[in-house]
Order: sequence, then structure tokens, then C-alpha cells
Amino acid sequence: MSVETFRKPCRVGVLISGRGSNMLALSDAIRDGRIAGALMVAVISDQRDAAGLQRAATRGIETLTIERRGRTRAEHDGETVAALQSRGVDLVCLAGYMRLLSPHFIEAFRGRILNIHPSLLPSFPGLHAQRQALEHGVRWTGCTVHFVDETLDGGPIIAQEVVPVLDDDTEETLTARILVAEHKLYPQALALIVRGRYEIAGRRIIRH
Ligand code: GRF
Repeated sequence: MSVETFRKPCRVGVLISGRGSNMLALSDAIRDGRIAGALMVAVISDQRDAAGLQRAATRGIETLTIERRGRTRAEHDGETVAALQSRGVDLVCLAGYMRLLSPHFIEAFRGRILNIHPSLLPSFPGLHAQRQALEHGVRWTGCTVHFVDETLDGGPIIAQEVVPVLDDDTEETLTARILVAEHKLYPQALALIVRGRYEIAGRRIIRH
């Protein structure tokens, strides 16, 4: 994977399926100047009732719903890719987007798709990462921002934040503690990528 150099402003599109708290954390960070040179141009949901859509709209960000409506993944992704491209999106941030991307989508934005996952990858990929961590009995977990490739939560790691697991944790309390870390980590990771001061060596992202 080669390092992308993004034009400025770097046009960011965010894909969500639900409440969109990470999308808001990114939007806040852009507004506050913590992600220099980034502009959030669209928030797209595959779910009509995603709470994050309303929250984005009240901030003046363009919102769209692109539902699957019985179409294949390739057809649905084709429409999403077209919507992103027609808005000149340079970088795609997945933020609680509950669909796997098709090879066509990944190819269209290779090296330009980020995701946040609520565990220290490669531990606990897939669904219910916080529950997996509790059930496994780890003392530390956290969150990871990574590039998206064809593997499930397996692309090169951009940034991670460690979160303790406490003796009296439930899935809910652990999820809430990790979410606080997510809201800090995702803006930092996006800022790093937009700034472009890194290189990729194998799977390693080396910061300059
Ligand atoms: C977050 O825990 C994120 O790590 C995972 O899905 C959740 C989305 O939450 N991929 P939100 O929609 O950003 O509030």
C-alpha cells in the first residue's frame, strides 16, 4: 500500500448505520481545528432511521440514506461509491457502519478507507468485540483505527488506545469506557492520515 497524499481540504465522507457518536467526534474535531485540512462533506447511512443522520444534519453536513432494498452487496456498494465520488470524497471513514464492503468499494478507495473497532486488534475482530474481551478474561482491551482492506478488521493499524477491564465490568460499562477512548482516538488517527507524515512498511505505519 502506498501512502496517499491528500489534497487540501481533504474531503471526508463518513458511513454510519446507527447513533453516529464517532462521526460527531470527528465532526467536532474538524470544527475545532484538531484535524487540519479536513472537511466533512457527507454522512451516508444504510439505515433510514440511523440517529446519526439527524445529528449530522443539524450541524449542516449533507446526509444521505442508501438502503440495500433487496439489492446485492455489489449493487448497493456501487451506489454508495458513486455518491462518494460525485461529492469528490478523498477519504472514507467508517463509523459504526454495519456492512462489509465489497471488493469494488475497497478497490475504488484503496488505502483511503478508515475504520474504528472497539478492541485491540487483532484480538476480537467482528461483532460484539467488548463481549468477546470480557468472556476471554483479558485485563486490558481498547480500540483500534485501521485501514480497511479485504480482511475482516484486518487492515494495517493506524492507532490504538488501551482501556482497562475492571472486575465489576458488564458489557455495557466496558463498552462505555471504550467509547470514550474511541472519541479521542479516531480524530487523532484521522489527523495523522490527513497530515500524511507517515510511511507504510509492510503492515506497519511509521510516523515521521
Ligand atoms: C463503535 O463502538 C465503533 O467502534 C463500532 O461501532 C460503534 C459505533 O458507535 N465500529 P457510534 O455509531 O459511532 O456511536
